[in-house]
Amino acid sequence: MDKKGIRLTILGATGAVGTEMLRVLAERNFPVSSLKLLADANDAGKQIQWQGQTYTVEEATDDSFADTDITLVAVGNAVSLRFSPIAVKSGSVVVDNSSAYRMYPDVPLVVPEVNPEDIKKHNGIIANPNCSTIIAMVPLKPLHDYAGIRRVIVSTYQAVSGAGVAGLNELRDQAADVLAGKTAQSKVFQHQIAFNVIPRIETFQENGYTYEEMKMLNEGRKILHCPGLQVNCTCVRVPVFRSHSESITIETERKLTVEKARELLASAPGVKLVDDPANNLYPMPVDSSDQDLVFAGRIREDFTAPNALQLWVCGDQVRKGAATNAVQIAELVAKDMGAV
Ligand SMILES: NC(=O)c1ccc[n+]([C@@H]2O[C@H](COP(=O)([O-])OP(=O)(O)OC[C@H]3O[C@@H](n4cnc5c(N)ncnc54)[C@H](OP(=O)(O)O)[C@@H]3O)[C@@H](O)[C@H]2O)c1
Repeated sequence: MDKKGIRLTILGATGAVGTEMLRVLAERNFPVSSLKLLADANDAGKQIQWQGQTYTVEEATDDSFADTDITLVAVGNAVSLRFSPIAVKSGSVVVDNSSAYRMYPDVPLVVPEVNPEDIKKHNGIIANPNCSTIIAMVPLKPLHDYAGIRRVIVSTYQAVSGAGVAGLNELRDQAADVLAGKTAQSKVFQHQIAFNVIPRIETFQENGYTYEEMKMLNEGRKILHCPGLQVNCTCVRVPVFRSHSESITIETERKLTVEKARELLASAPGVKLVDDPANNLYPMPVDSSDQDLVFAGRIREDFTAPNALQLWVCGDQVRKGAATNAVQIAELVAKDMGAV
């Protein structure tokens, strides 16, 4: 760190999450004293404007991380596994958006509205949770604190931008092709995603669930410090450009009424209560996109089980589910470093 602030590096600066990080850093006035933008060789030399200055993207190499206080990692698992330890060895704190390190016991998995205190336990790497997990945890935390959640049943409706820039382009191209009467070409998703839904995100495990579905269980337990939490998750890709939606049923230890849940969510950090069905007001991805709050609504009692409540949430997974959450973590690290 120098006197003017944090020496920051973004690994994966040209992708969906990296690009959004640059926007969020500017919006939140993150104290940057120097900025390095890294990507793969094919993006090296690309020029990016940020805060009135031109930055040239560099190819990430083993020598890229010297003189860096914080590295925001916005690449896939393999690239993170290669470069994150090098960044730590070079003296940087890493905030990693991939799933490579999330379940390591010495790597805090942090949603700043939920478990900010965990950051202090890091050994160089802090992990950003899975996007759907973050969007569920923000509204579930106040309900858990009040009533003790013991079981969660969740179905996700995940936007194509969750699969990065390539996912966005595939929906755009397929929609145009199908409307023009042509055959849709699928490269990113296993099947046509335009005008379709695909009940598979990531690889199937031996237990029949996908890796993405198991993240909600494993990461939810770690973030809430609740090893006994039961989570049953189904993840579905839908033809929406941006913002994941989730149908969530919770079973609680103590009674939680609809009115109390509304009251708790109305004042919960990071949540916007949108729950006025009589006036057709409920969370929708077009409304929750391009901002950081998780919208919660359609709150109703699940009358098929004791102490059970149903809600519907939407959140921008490129922002709160990735870029904003990572920048919030970086702000806490910067504060620890004395930069803010
Ligand atoms: N998209 C989301 O909503 C979301 C949400 C939560 C978490 N995440 C996670 O965030 C990470 C980034 O996702 P994304 O959606 O931004 O992906 P993306 O749009 O595909 O971008 C990937 C970035 O990684 C860079 N990259 C690829 N190979 C590299 C290499 N060998 N060395 C250096 N840079 C390399 C790419 O650079 P080039 O363009 O030069 O190849 C690009 O900048 C992933 O781990 C993803 O799972 C994504």
